[in-house]
Amino acid sequence: MTSHDEAAARIRELTEELTQHAHLYYVLDQSTISDYDYDKLFRELQELERTHPQFRAPDSPTQRVGGAPVDYLEKADHPVPMLSLDNAFDEDGVRDFDTRVKRFLGLQGEQLPYVVETKLDGLAVELIYRQRVLQVGASRGDGRTGEDVTHNLRTVPTIPLGLHGHGDHVEGEIVIRGEVLIPLADFSALNRRREAEGEATFKNPRNTAAGAVRQLDPRLAAERSLKFFAHSSADPGALPFASHSAFLDALPDWGFRVAPGWERCQGVVEVLRQLRRIARLRDDLPHEIDGAVIKVDDIDLQQRLGETTRAPRWALAYKYPPPQRTTRVDRILVQVGRTGALTPVADLEPITVGGVTVSRASLHNQDELTRKDVRVGDSVIVQRAGDVIPEVVRVVPERRPTGTEPFVLPEACPVCGAPADREEDEAVLRCTNGLSCPAQLREAIRHFASRNAMDIEGMGKKLCNQLVDRSLVRDVAGIYDLRFDDVVILERMADKSAQNLMEAIDSSRRQPLHRLLVGLGIRHVGEQGARVLADHAGSLEALRAIVTEELEAIEDVGPVVAASVRAFFGGERNRILLDRLVAAELRTTAEPRAIRATSPALTGKNFVLTGTLPSMTRAEAKATITTRGGKVTGSVSSKTDYLVAGEAAGSKLTKARELGIEVLDEDGLRRLLEEV
Ligand code: IVH
Repeated sequence: MTSHDEAAARIRELTEELTQHAHLYYVLDQSTISDYDYDKLFRELQELERTHPQFRAPDSPTQRVGGAPVDYLEKADHPVPMLSLDNAFDEDGVRDFDTRVKRFLGLQGEQLPYVVETKLDGLAVELIYRQRVLQVGASRGDGRTGEDVTHNLRTVPTIPLGLHGHGDHVEGEIVIRGEVLIPLADFSALNRRREAEGEATFKNPRNTAAGAVRQLDPRLAAERSLKFFAHSSADPGALPFASHSAFLDALPDWGFRVAPGWERCQGVVEVLRQLRRIARLRDDLPHEIDGAVIKVDDIDLQQRLGETTRAPRWALAYKYPPPQRTTRVDRILVQVGRTGALTPVADLEPITVGGVTVSRASLHNQDELTRKDVRVGDSVIVQRAGDVIPEVVRVVPERRPTGTEPFVLPEACPVCGAPADREEDEAVLRCTNGLSCPAQLREAIRHFASRNAMDIEGMGKKLCNQLVDRSLVRDVAGIYDLRFDDVVILERMADKSAQNLMEAIDSSRRQPLHRLLVGLGIRHVGEQGARVLADHAGSLEALRAIVTEELEAIEDVGPVVAASVRAFFGGERNRILLDRLVAAELRTTAEPRAIRATSPALTGKNFVLTGTLPSMTRAEAKATITTRGGKVTGSVSSKTDYLVAGEAAGSKLTKARELGIEVLDEDGLRRLLEEV
C-alpha cells in the first residue's frame, strides 16, 4: 500500500468514526467519547485532509465550520413549494378539521389515525440531499423561493452533512424540512454573556435564530447554538413509508432529531387529549413552541386530500395562546433612555413564563399605565408573546391590596432632577436636560461607541457607566480626551486592555461620516438615513450648512427627518460638540463609493495581520480589507490566503512561510487593494 492509499483509508476511517460519535451525541444524546479524544481525532483528520485534499469526503465533519463568508445570500427555489398551515384556535376548530377531512375522503364515522406534533417556533428551512450528501440548505422565503443559507446550516451539528441509514431510497434526491431554533437555555446564556460584555441583548430566540441563519459569515452562525428538528419531507409519496409516523420513526436513523412529544392518535378524541397534554408540557420544554400540528398519518390519504394553493388539506396547526402567569408588582421604576424618554418599568416578583424567568415588564408610558392602572402591590397577569420582555396584560382587580395609589410619572427626571416634558402629539415624557443628565449621557456614549456607529471595541455598558460616573467623559467628544492614565485605574482594566481601548478610540477617528452621524444619535436618523445624508453632503462641513429645502429634496429624506437634522445642527450645544469633534481630528468625510465596492482580488480571501505596519493601524487595515470583501482572521492556517506582515512579525510569519502562504508588506497590501 502506498502512503496515498494509507492516507485515503485513514481519512475514510476517521470521517466515519467522527460522524458516528457526532450522531450519537447530537441525535441520540449519548456521549461515547471524551471531548479531548474527539478533538484529537478531528485534528488528525484535518491535518490529513490538508495534505491530501483529494480524499476529503464532501460530508466530512471538518466541513461544518470555517467555510468562507459569502458576499450576499443567493436565491434558492424550492423543488416543491413550502406551504403554510391552516390554523385552529380552539377545540371546535380541531373537530371541524376532522369532519372536513373525513367528508372529503368519504369516510364518515371512522376514527382516522393522526399524528400530533409540537409546532416549533423557529425558522422553517429545507435541506436538499443528493446521493446522501447535503447539497443545499434554504430558508422558506415566500414559500416558492427562499435564500441559500447552506454555509450557515452546515455549521448546525444536528444537521447531518450526509444521510445515514440503508436502502436505495436515500440515494436519490431527498428533501427534508424542519425548524431551526435556539433552545431557551442557550438563548438565556447568550444574552447573559452579551449583557456582561455590555452588548445589546436579543429580544427573542426566534429572531435570533433567524438572524443567525441569514448571516454572511458562517462563523457567526456557528456561535449561536442552533438546533434543527426535522418534521416533514417535500414529497412524502416518493419515500418508502406508508405513514407519517413511520417516517418520523426513521428520521433519527438518517441522522435527524425529531422534536419530542409527538404521538400517533386514533381519532379526534385522542388528538384533543394529546393537544391538552402538550399544553401542559409546554412550560417544561427546552425550546419555544407556539402550538401543535395535527397531520393525517396515512400517506395515501394525505395524497388523496392534496392541498390548496396555501396549505395542505391533511394538516392543521392548533395555536396556543401566549403563555401567561400571575405575579406581583414589587416596585415601579422609571428608566431614562438615550433620548431622555422616561419609561415606567414594573419590577416583578420573578416568575417563569414559557420557560423564561421574567422579573421586569415595560409599562411603556403614562397613557398605557393609566389605561391599565397598574399599581405597586398589584397582582398582574403577564404574558410573553414571543419576546423575552413580557407585557402586563392586566391587573387582577380582586387581588388589589388596600391603600394603593395610581402611579404617576414624576414631573422631574428621576436621575438628574431636571423638569420632564411631554411634546405635543407624543405619549412620551422626556427629561429636558439633554446630555447634562447622566442617564442620557451614559446611553449616548454607549450608542456612540456601539458596533453600528463608531465601533469602539471594549467600550461596553459597564465602562461607559464608569466614565460618566467618574466625570471622565462629559459628552461624546470627551471620549477623545481620554488618556491611558485615566482609564487604567478603572475597575477590571489591566494595562493591556487600557492600551487596547486607547488604540480602539484612536482608530475610530477614521470612521467614515455616516458612522459618526449614527453615533450622534440624531432623532429619526438611523443607519440607512445616515448613509443617505453622508453620501449626499460628502462632508460634515457641508451637512452643517445644509438648508431644510435641500434636505427635503434628497430622495429618501422626508420632512420629519429633514426637520430633525436641521434642529440638530442648529442647536448651540451641538455646534460646540461638533467643533470639539473636529478639533479631536475625527475624519468628517463620507466613504468614497469606490472603496465600498468589493474587489474580486479580495473577495472570499482570508487574511491574517501581524506585526506593525508603517502607516496603517491594525483596525484600519482590517476595515479596508473587509469592506473590499476579504476576511480577517486571527491565526494562520491552511485556509489563510495572505499574511500581511509588518515590523516585529513573529510566529505567524514563520508559520505562514512553512505553509507556503503569500506574505504581503503594507505596499503589497495597497497594491492588492487597488486591483479592480
Ligand atoms: S409540517 C405544509 N410540522 O409551521 C406544511 N410544520 O405554519 C408542512 N412548523 O413554516 C409543515 N412545526 O415550518 C410542520 N411539527 C411541524 C411544524 C411545522 C413548525 C412550521 C413550518 C411552517 C409553519 C406553517
